[in-house]
Formats: sequence, structure tokens, C-alpha cells
Amino acid sequence: MSDSTDMFGDDPTDNDPPWDTGEEDRASAAELEAAGQSSMFGDPAPTPAPVPVTPPAPPPAAAAAAPTPVPAAAQPYRVLARKYRPQTFSALIGQDAMVQTLANAIRRGRLAHAFMMTGVRGVGKTSTARLIAKALNCIGPDGQGGPTITPCNVCEPCRAISEGRHIDVIEMDAASHTGVDDVREIIDAVRYASVSARYKIYIIDEVHMLSKNAFNALLKTLEEPPEHVKFLFATTEVNKVPVTVLSRCQRFDLRRIPAEKLAAHFAEVSKSEGVEVEPEALGMIARAAEGSARDGLSILDQAIAHGAGSVTADQVRDMLGLADRGRIRRLLQLILSGDATAALTELDETHELGIDPTQLLRGLMEALHGATRVKAGAVGDALQSAEERATSEEMAQQLSWGALHRLWQMLLKGLQDVAIAPDPREAAEMALLRLIHAADLPDPAALVTKLSGEGTVTSPSAAPSSKSNGTSATLPADFPSLVKRLEQAGKHGLAVQLHDQVGLVRYAPPELVLKPTRPLGGDWPRTLGSELKSITGTNWQVSLSDEAGEPSLFDQEKIAEERVRADVLADPNVRAVMDVFPDAQLETFEGTKGH
Ligand SMILES: Nc1ncnc2c1ncn2[C@@H]1O[C@H](COP(=O)(O)OP(=O)(O)OP(=O)(O)O)[C@@H](O)[C@H]1O
Ligand SMILES: [Mg+2]
Ligand SMILES: [Zn+2]
Repeated sequence: MSDSTDMFGDDPTDNDPPWDTGEEDRASAAELEAAGQSSMFGDPAPTPAPVPVTPPAPPPAAAAAAPTPVPAAAQPYRVLARKYRPQTFSALIGQDAMVQTLANAIRRGRLAHAFMMTGVRGVGKTSTARLIAKALNCIGPDGQGGPTITPCNVCEPCRAISEGRHIDVIEMDAASHTGVDDVREIIDAVRYASVSARYKIYIIDEVHMLSKNAFNALLKTLEEPPEHVKFLFATTEVNKVPVTVLSRCQRFDLRRIPAEKLAAHFAEVSKSEGVEVEPEALGMIARAAEGSARDGLSILDQAIAHGAGSVTADQVRDMLGLADRGRIRRLLQLILSGDATAALTELDETHELGIDPTQLLRGLMEALHGATRVKAGAVGDALQSAEERATSEEMAQQLSWGALHRLWQMLLKGLQDVAIAPDPREAAEMALLRLIHAADLPDPAALVTKLSGEGTVTSPSAAPSSKSNGTSATLPADFPSLVKRLEQAGKHGLAVQLHDQVGLVRYAPPELVLKPTRPLGGDWPRTLGSELKSITGTNWQVSLSDEAGEPSLFDQEKIAEERVRADVLADPNVRAVMDVFPDAQLETFEGTKGH
């Protein structure tokens, strides 16, 4: 199989090819898993476990699992995700920390009896399990080697494991063998020594699916496993695995793979496939993969099948139903400037282009998230274009924390609406209009406060300062300063809640009495109290009350802004303009935007 040996520029005669070429030529992973299971569980006709058997002929149906159309070619088509299964630890991307730990453990000979591989779908759990099996059983090209983090891939154990025909490496899918009987078979078989390998290895995939009884049965063996036995578990839902089992395993958490790494990986894969893929297309696929190599490779597969010999960004965009990012940025700017008419026109266009409303809202959320990260001082995303970065920075400056969080919440709500509304397009339109009005108009609460009690409103900076006494020397002088302290300490969530969702009843540090304008949950005062303690070193008494309080800081700022707006509008010069242009609206004015 020359199609994959040049993957990372390796010499095909190299002892250490990154991709084994035999594996799925003979049988797909599913078939091999079936083979492994049938030697284990005698399925359908029972076979005693320790007796060597050759894998049964692959059932033809298993190949039909491939989601991609099979091109007419002499060779049977293999989906990329299977063809490019990492055959060495160095080919496993994004899991360096885990590989390092494992390498150390192997070098020091401190290997646990059981390993637990966790992580979201398609990040390399099953691949890692098979690699560990090889690492433990490799004997090297000369037959003299011991366990190694760089299995040779040429010795008989390595090859047999790659091809899924190693008699001492038994794979079992717990999703289809959940019962206590299945586990009993393992436990019985564990007593027999391995047939040919150093270790007898049980790979149990999706282990969280085992029944409670099955776990209990397994537990005893896990407690005192024979020297020659290793268990390799993999799961996407580690929280469903009993702690009693977890505590007997060495745990490896596989990470989501960063988009940049995925993009680079997909670039290499497409190169070895001889397909030209635009870098922007690779970036889109990498982002859509959400950290999963397998998901990304499936999308790439699909894109390659769509395009004839090359893949463009436009094709991928269409395929994924993505709005292009330039369009998203334009739309976002229209929303923030409050231009409803133009925003709706833009929305109609995206509809005509066949862009899915969900994807559109996802795109807006992504852009907003980018801006929020910039505001928080995070390093930029390497896959972002210069324009995207510029927009993020601009938005980060333009929008307050409160505004960013509110817009996010509203988009999230919009996304839910789109999912349940009979007409998703209508729902998206309504969501955008809501955003526009939120960006442009004061909060209803602020208006109510303004109408009902303008005279009592104090501006945030003029809020009553505390009666300071000896013990509170280091405590913030007033409530706004307290919020600022929280913000500076990185407690953005709490700071935003204090800023937007409560009115101050009494600030007499260390006593703090607040009136919530939205439900905050019974534990909230305690949470706030302990954060305040860790920041100021003082025990605070935080309580919620129904007494009349000040408007929230957010409302106060809005009200202050409205005042200025009213003053500006009252200015004779401005009035003269308004008389000439009766439809004109005052959108922004110097000095009050951004706080
Ligand atoms: N870290 C990785 N580096 C390179 N390729 C990877 C990686 N993780 C997954 N892949 C690709 O995805 C395919 C599936 O990986 P694997 O079966 O190991 O994932 P998994 O974590 O077990 O997923 P699942 O939770 O769905 O079982 C591999 O054949 C390979 O092509
Ligand atoms: Mg798996
Ligand atoms: Zn080997």
C-alpha cells in the first residue's frame, strides 16, 4: 500500500512506518473487533477462549458502514479515518502529554494493570489502546526488544496487533457486551497464560456501557490481576464508570485536538491522497470537527468525494451549510449598529444562498465568543484571518462585558428557538431583531426605573461610600469598586451578575445586602461570600433581601446614558437638525459609549 507510506515523508522501508498498511486491507476495524470478540466470546458458535483461532472471514456487511460513496476503483475504498489510523505514538496528534506520561511509565517499568482512556469521540482512544497493546508486546525487529514507546511495527506481535489477529490481544466492545456473563468469560480466561505474547491484553471499548453487575464481576479481577494481564479501557463517558473501577486504573485523558493541529493534519492527509485542498477549506473543516480527528476526516472524505481532484473553500462552505465569515462579520456589524433593514436584507441573502439558520447563529456566536476572548486578554486563534482578528478587537472595545454576555445569551436563546420553531428562518429573523433592539435600546428595566424614580438614581461613581472602620481598611470603598475588584480578580461571571442582576440595598463592608432582579439560586450568596473572602481576606455577610434597593449598576449606567441623550436632544442645535430630519435617531454620542 503505497498510498499511505509517504504520509509524513517517511522512507517506505523505514522500520517505523507511521501508518500500518495491513490493517484494514484485510478487514475493517469493525470486522476485526468482531473477530476479536468472536475468539473471546465464541459468537455465534462458541469457541473456547484460549484456543488460537484465525479470524473468521470478514462479513461483507461491515464494509457498508462507510458513510462515503465508494469510488469505482480497483482497490476497495477505505474511509480516511480508518486508512489513517495512527500506527505510532508520534503519529497520534494532540496527545503529547499522555504519550509523555506513558513513555515515562514504560521506561521506568511502572506499568499499571489497567488503563483508562477517556475523551470525546474520535480523539484517538481506540487507537491509543491498540498502540499500548503494541508497545507492551513488541519484541523488536530482532526479537529481543522489551516494552517500548516506539513499537517497531515489523515484529510478529506488532504486525498481528495491527492486523487485529493477535491471539493474546482481545478487543471487546462493551456497548454490545454489557452483561455479567460477558465479563465472566474474561475473568475465566484471565487465568490462562498468554499464548505467545508477553502480555495478555484485554481492550474494552465504551466500558461505561457495562452493567453494574458486570463492573462488580470485573472489580475482583482488577484488584488482583495476574502478572501477565493488562486491561485497556476506553470510554467517552468516564463519569459513568464506577469510582471503584476508576481508582484501579491509570487514567489517560485524551484531549480535544486544537483546530490548528487538525488543519495541519488534514493538509498532510490530503497531500498523501493527492488532492489539492485550499487552506481556508482545511480551516473550516478543522473548526467543524470540534476537536475530533475522526469527525474532521469524515468531513474531508465527503469534501473530496464532492470535488473532482480538488477542494475549495466554497465547496466546503456549501457542504457544511456555513455562512462565510465575511458575511457573518457584516451581519454582526449591522446588528450592532442597529440597522434592522440592512440586517434583514443580509439575512434574506443568506437564505437564498442556502445557508442554514442554525449555522448562521452559530457563526454569530463564534464571532461574539472571539470578541469576548479578546476582551478577556486571551491569545488569538491561529486559524483566524487578519480581518477576523481586527473585527474581534473592534467589538471587544465597542461592547461592554454586560453587552457581550447579554448578546451571547440572546443568541443562545435564538439557537434554541430556531431548533423548535416550525419555520427556522422566521425564528432566526426574530432572534436577529431582538439582538438589534438589545444593541440599540435601553433595557426595559432601565426605562421603568427612569420613569418611576429618576430623582433617586445615583450614578455609579457617586454611589454612597461605605462607613469605613478599622477592619475594613482594605475593603473596597463602595459597591462599584467591589464589582471592579471581582472583575480584576478574574471572577467575570460574578462581576457580571453583580453588575446586571442585583440592586444594592446596603453596602456596609463586610456586610452586603442585595436585592436580586433575577433569580440567582440559593447558594449564590455563599459563593459570592467565599469569593469575596478569598479576594479581600475578610469574612463577608452577603444576604439577599426584598427591601427596595438601588437599580442595578447596569440600569444606572443606562439611565445616566439616557440622561445625556435627553440633554443632547434638548440641545437647540440638535433640535434644529431633528426638525429638518424628523426620522433621524440619535444613535451614539461621544463620551458615553463603552464603560
Ligand atoms: N490523536 C489522533 N491523531 C491522529 N488521528 C486520529 C487521532 N484521533 C483519532 N484519529 C483518527 O480518527 C480515527 C478514529 O480514532 P479512534 O478510533 O482512536 O478514536 P476514539 O477516540 O476511539 O473514538 P470513539 O470515541 O468514537 O471510539 C483514527 O483512525 C484516526 O484516523
Ligand atoms: Mg473508540
Ligand atoms: Zn514490534
